[in-house]
Amino acid sequence: MKCAVPIIIATLLATANFSAFAQPYGMHHGMGGGMMRGPVGMLTQQDAGSAADMGLVMDLVHTNTRIKRSVTHLPDGIRTVTESDDPAVAQAIKAHVASMSGRLKDGREFNLFSTTLPVIFDNADKIKSAVEMTDKGVIVTRTTGDAKVAAALQAHANEVTELVQEGPTAFHRGMNARMAMGPDGPRGAMQRTAQTGKPAIAASQTPHTHDHSFSGAEQWAKVFDNPKRDAWQKPHEVIQALKLKPDAVVADIGSGTGYFSVRLAHMVPKGRVYGLDTEPDMVKYLTDRAKRAGLNNLRAVQAKPGSPMLPEQADLVILVDVYHHIDNREQYFHQLQKSLKPGGRLAVIDFLLDSPEGPPKAARIAPEQVKAELQRAGYVLGEEHAFLPNQYFLVFQPRP
Ligand code: HEM
Repeated sequence: MKCAVPIIIATLLATANFSAFAQPYGMHHGMGGGMMRGPVGMLTQQDAGSAADMGLVMDLVHTNTRIKRSVTHLPDGIRTVTESDDPAVAQAIKAHVASMSGRLKDGREFNLFSTTLPVIFDNADKIKSAVEMTDKGVIVTRTTGDAKVAAALQAHANEVTELVQEGPTAFHRGMNARMAMGPDGPRGAMQRTAQTGKPAIAASQTPHTHDHSFSGAEQWAKVFDNPKRDAWQKPHEVIQALKLKPDAVVADIGSGTGYFSVRLAHMVPKGRVYGLDTEPDMVKYLTDRAKRAGLNNLRAVQAKPGSPMLPEQADLVILVDVYHHIDNREQYFHQLQKSLKPGGRLAVIDFLLDSPEGPPKAARIAPEQVKAELQRAGYVLGEEHAFLPNQYFLVFQPRP
């Protein structure tokens, strides 16, 4: 081994108190505050340390681009090197592995969607572990005399590698898989797929229905955004109602901090999402947010006021709480047609006149006015959804 730092055996790790180490780093996303909130509520088992551990995991998922990892499959297990040049990320890696090693030792399962972790936890007493803390992370060696357990260790190491390579995209895929597993969760799925030896996350890459994706989106939303807005904005239902194909090109005009853009980008993994805003600060914010989240298919675009030109033709243009900000609307939306693909759609969501949320009432525009204006701009109303309590939700298409 290259590193001179002494080997710390998992037994030692299990006896140390890591909560002080883990907690300040782990709570950034505001999703660890309650045992049942966000993905903590989706864990196969919960205990006093679950929220802190989940916070750490989410931090790792979001800093994935700063993590380097290599995995060696040994005949009887794995040797992994997981490191980061960023000291905070290196510390999070160490804290996570330390905590997970302790959990393995004590049988306190920590699992959301992996079908290999149950085998590892059930056979922890057959695993020999060596965890070496380096300056930049950890070197983990786990070996076993049981071929089935060795395969599970290797498969789980591959799952971790996917998380490192793809960050939130892989996490989201794992959550989709979790949703598809049904009430018996990863253990049930493990029994069904044990023979394949495929890691759960990779398994979730097999074709799945849109419904699964959107269920995953709801979990995603719970993790990352303000639940107060979610309650009436219903982003999951909105995106579900739009029935987007995974390769759709979407433009979110007036994207702001990316409340919809980010969710849309998760939903069209093979497509592209453009978040357009006239406000440079918002464009910068969304650029950084997309980068942090590892969303390569989301691009923030500086929009010119009054110009509806998009970087490329879109399958869907969506404006959420933005219609009332646009001047010369008939001209604007008439021109926007050039930026729609054949069969492309325009979705307008904005505040109802009597909604308790939203801009001053004088600034609001009634849905009838939107329909009339867009008809004059050359559109026909395709769908009208009535499930949002504070907003109307209209979907138009250019008149053929
Ligand atoms: C980017 C995200 C993640 C990183 C960088 C990461 C890193 C690691 C590393 C380095 C190990 C030691 C074993 C190995 O190297 O293969 C490990 C083990 C473990 N991780 Fe993670 N992990 C991540 C996400 C997760 C998630 C999402 C979960 C569960 C919800 C999880 C649960 C575990 C458990 C239970 C172990 C102990 C099992 C073992 O060591 O084989 N990890 N993780």
